[in-house]
Amino acid sequence: MLALRAYQVADARGLIKLDAMENPYPLPEVVRKAWAQRLAAVAVNRYPDPEAAALKAALRSAMDLPLGASLMLGNGSDELLQILISAVARPGATLVTPAPGFAMFGLIARAAGLRHETVDLTPEFALDADAMRAAIDAHRPALVIVAQPNNPTGNAFDAAALRAVVEAAPGLVVIDEAYYPFADADCRAWLDDYPHLLLLRTVSKLGLAGLRLGLLAGAPRWIEALEPLRLPYNINALTQAGAEVALSHYDAFAAQAAAIVAERRRLHEALAALPGLTVHPSQANFLLVRVPAGRAPALHAGLRDAGILVKLVDGSHPLVADCLRITVGSPEGNTAVITALGDLLGA
Ligand SMILES: Cc1ncc(COP(=O)(O)O)c(C=O)c1O
Repeated sequence: MLALRAYQVADARGLIKLDAMENPYPLPEVVRKAWAQRLAAVAVNRYPDPEAAALKAALRSAMDLPLGASLMLGNGSDELLQILISAVARPGATLVTPAPGFAMFGLIARAAGLRHETVDLTPEFALDADAMRAAIDAHRPALVIVAQPNNPTGNAFDAAALRAVVEAAPGLVVIDEAYYPFADADCRAWLDDYPHLLLLRTVSKLGLAGLRLGLLAGAPRWIEALEPLRLPYNINALTQAGAEVALSHYDAFAAQAAAIVAERRRLHEALAALPGLTVHPSQANFLLVRVPAGRAPALHAGLRDAGILVKLVDGSHPLVADCLRITVGSPEGNTAVITALGDLLGA
């Protein structure tokens, strides 16, 4: 236990925050107004609805989730990952994920004592379906988790390769669609094809990261089996009421996501035009940018000095050596990072 390290969150005070894939836009006005009334009326002297039934109905309708799927809600999708990983963490059990991937998969597995085997993506960040199948055959994992689109690379994997992984898995498969609001396609319909598939989503990237709300959708049998690991009141009353109201204005959040996708295009083109930068294709609300060899730590520090916080992913996995991960921010934030990187690179 003394060897465990907590997830590191950088101090962003006073900085333009482009490190954590947050939506840069303020809460839509229509939601702000509706919240004022609704949240003031929440009976916080009472425990919240342990089933969060009204919120589940709102999520189902806003995200158009398959009727046959049951839902479990979590305090962020992080909590649902913790529940899933704790559920399968038995001696001899294994988690398989592609790498590089979302850091929490490994951190939670380690804390839960679950063996974690990673399978490298190809140098182009494609899912290596053959290598994934080989790892699945070798380890017979209790759980496979794939983020689609992937963090920190930002790309969406080829659907056929992802299906091959789902079909090869002998245990549970989780497709983590944290970045679905910015992607061209999603896997909701796959739930009807694969009873061992669970879909993980969050409202964080839509613009509600502070509420802490994620959802797991899948076959009722699996959701029921996971239910004993969920603490009864894990979704607090203010989150239940606030998210329900917000989801009734889903269009306003979808419009912000569309604005982020448009800014992603502009940021991509502008960064790709700077000397020595390679910008990887993204279906998410961030860009993975490869900088000239050996310069990532200094550029990260230089951006911080210029008042901009991005994520240094160089050093986390050999495939993302020399890389920075830059969240798509507001138009002003994006212009600031383009200008600052241009200055640092002497463009
Ligand atoms: C792939 C992936 N899954 C899950 C999460 C966590 O989401 P939440 O805010 O719902 O805990 C993130 C956050 O960055 C992520 O990148």
